[in-house]
Amino acid sequence: MASPATALPIEQFISEVDALLARAQTAFDSSQTPDDLESARIEFLGAKNGLLKTVQKQLGQLAVADKPAGGQNLNRAKAGIQSAFETAQQRLAGDSGRGKRDPEFDPTLPGTPVRLGRLHPITQTIEELSDIMGRLGFAPAHGPEIEDEFHNFQALNIPEIHPARDPLDNFYLSVAGRHSSGPQVLLRSQTSTVQIRVMENTPPPIRIISLGRVYRPDTADMTHYPMFHQMEGLLVDRKVSMAHLKTVLQLFASSYLGESVPVRIRPSFFPFTEPSVEADYFWNDKWVEFGGAGMVDPSVFSAVGYDPEEWSGFAFGLGVERLCMIRHGITDIRDLYTNDVRFLRQF
Ligand code: FA5
Repeated sequence: MASPATALPIEQFISEVDALLARAQTAFDSSQTPDDLESARIEFLGAKNGLLKTVQKQLGQLAVADKPAGGQNLNRAKAGIQSAFETAQQRLAGDSGRGKRDPEFDPTLPGTPVRLGRLHPITQTIEELSDIMGRLGFAPAHGPEIEDEFHNFQALNIPEIHPARDPLDNFYLSVAGRHSSGPQVLLRSQTSTVQIRVMENTPPPIRIISLGRVYRPDTADMTHYPMFHQMEGLLVDRKVSMAHLKTVLQLFASSYLGESVPVRIRPSFFPFTEPSVEADYFWNDKWVEFGGAGMVDPSVFSAVGYDPEEWSGFAFGLGVERLCMIRHGITDIRDLYTNDVRFLRQF
């Protein structure tokens, strides 16, 4: 094959190859980040437009007799550039710790199991109660846990001299000062407060439940805790009777505890219901009290601006912990609040 008319002198080719090798080594040696290195790789070793490829194309311009020497020089430069690239690659991988193999690491061993959390049994109970009552048409309502005396007592027909207002039976907060003449606030002792707040703001008919925390300075024992939860129900409409109340309590019991769980009501007293009852379930061969209930007292309707001649209703307040305990066979309420995961993960 003939040499090109104006052949590229071999000396010039070798000096270009050497210059390329020197530039590439400097570029790879001074790469500080993987991004630097990658740009240098593309510039010198890029398969399409890399500088090594460009110089390689010049081989064709050498005289035939110079081609073997040109090829050898090119291969030498190629090996040098490749080795400078690999050295830089290892240096950067070593810096970041990436690419290092940990001789202790065995990827075939099983992983560390992830411990899954779950909802507290009381939260689960609240969700289930809310679900059951939702199916009976009772919408959720909420009220503050720090209450004033009007909503916790007065509007519920509990007068100033009533023993239920005794400071020893309530968690009064000293915001306004116990002996000041300003309004007193306390941690609510029952969710009946929410009945008042809802009726103050909503015209009848009403059908709500309120599920939340209440506080009483009761000494903790197997069935009492100073903080517990209640589910309050309130239905206000025309011509509501005790039969409606008992039907709702029965439907609730059948849904929560089982089809054939009987409900019994017996006379009781609450200042805000007349007549008032205690409601019991027959469970595990005995009657268990689960809350108070009754027909809303006309004076409560008057306190919230409803006409007691036109409207009637029932209300009930059930202890959520007691319901949860009956259902799951928990014998001590304190277990619910000791936060022992061995107990809690059973539910
Ligand atoms: C009331 O709190 C009334 N507000 C219920 C009510 C609402 C009556 C609407 C009429 C109309 P009582 O104080 O009985 O009622 O409490 C209701 C339930 O709360 C009890 O039956 C019991 O299940 C639960 N309970 C009461 N005290 C505690 C306590 N210290 N620890 C756990 N549960 C409790």
